[in-house]
Amino acid sequence: MAAKITRKENRSPRFARRISRMGVSAVREILKVAERPDIISFAGGLPAPELFPVDALARAHADIFAREGAAAMQYSTTEGWRPLREWIAARMNGRGCAATAEGTLITSGSQQGIDLVARIFLDPGDTMIVENPSYVAALQVFKSYEAEMIAVDSDGGGVRVDEVEQAIKESNPKFIYVIPDFQNPTGISFSLERRKRLVEIARRHRVPIIEDDPYGELRYQGERLPSLASLDTEGMVIHLSTFSKTISPGMRIGWVIASEEIIQALIRAKQASDLHTSTIQQRAAARLLEDFDYDAHIARLCSVYGERCAAMGASLEAHFPHEARWTRPDGGLFLWVELPESVSGEELFKDSIKEKVAFVPGAAFFARDARTNFIRLNFSNRQPDIIDEGIRRISDVLKRSLR
Ligand SMILES: Cc1ncc(COP(=O)(O)O)c(C=O)c1O
Repeated sequence: MAAKITRKENRSPRFARRISRMGVSAVREILKVAERPDIISFAGGLPAPELFPVDALARAHADIFAREGAAAMQYSTTEGWRPLREWIAARMNGRGCAATAEGTLITSGSQQGIDLVARIFLDPGDTMIVENPSYVAALQVFKSYEAEMIAVDSDGGGVRVDEVEQAIKESNPKFIYVIPDFQNPTGISFSLERRKRLVEIARRHRVPIIEDDPYGELRYQGERLPSLASLDTEGMVIHLSTFSKTISPGMRIGWVIASEEIIQALIRAKQASDLHTSTIQQRAAARLLEDFDYDAHIARLCSVYGERCAAMGASLEAHFPHEARWTRPDGGLFLWVELPESVSGEELFKDSIKEKVAFVPGAAFFARDARTNFIRLNFSNRQPDIIDEGIRRISDVLKRSLR
């Protein structure tokens, strides 16, 4: 009887602990506001839709329907469409990484790759290492698996590898999660020396590295640096990537490259999660890549995004108060701005929305010691003149708050 009364009084669903640990993503809430058409948004990590290869994708889909119709509508294998895995492995080989089709798993975006890796490695209470700050949706995944995140600070050369080694010795982590190229949120890339040392440390202590690489292809200046996967000779690096930023995020096609033992564990986890990634999308992507000039397409993206990145840097230089500092990325989609200590990114966001301009306040990206005086700016999704107008508006709000 008593139980009945309690049930009646408390009508909330009895969710698992992980749901409360995941929290409400502050960033998702901000993106909802930023989506309003009257807002100049630098908030999302959105690639420019005018650069999606829509016609080529339409032709690839039409061909798949004509050639492979029913098979493309059917269930398929968890590991993914073999011709697509072969294409990805071959591209990675061209970048000095000994990938094979057997060691490649297609995922529904690299976000699923992060989730699956966390699922196969993390038990509640396990420790793992992240950069501080880092990609907010990855932090959310690690929290949901009840991991204890050891957050290691970064500087202009990437994560501080000495501190990573110290953290390994102290906390015996299950893995290290890093974004070595044009990091989200900072736009910073690891130096060659740090890359080599990180792989060496991982090898010596037998701790896998999750290398999350959605942005490596999007370099606008400077020399390409080797991926951690290409520096690894002992299967210590699990490499995640995606077509989200180069072809289209709506296709939801990403991949994991890892040792076959790890791929087998990931396949089991993926089976339980979604059976497989969309059959049609995988075949259409493979068809597209048969005769689409992917390199020329990337070169075009780099030319447009490089111009927008430079435009945002120039606008910050022209309008922002001299107390603010920002990163100068060589690629990717983001710039990271440090505001004067007295300014809260969240307050600046609220005031900027009134001026119809949006960005993401930085606090949510910190796994430890959240700092409130940072903001993340995306430059890929607006033309240079709009970028200038948006930065000018934020700058006016900021200057008012400093007065
Ligand atoms: C660092 C990082 N990893 C993963 C993702 C997710 O990419 P996908 O669209 O392939 O799931 C993003 C998206 O912004 C990202 O910035």
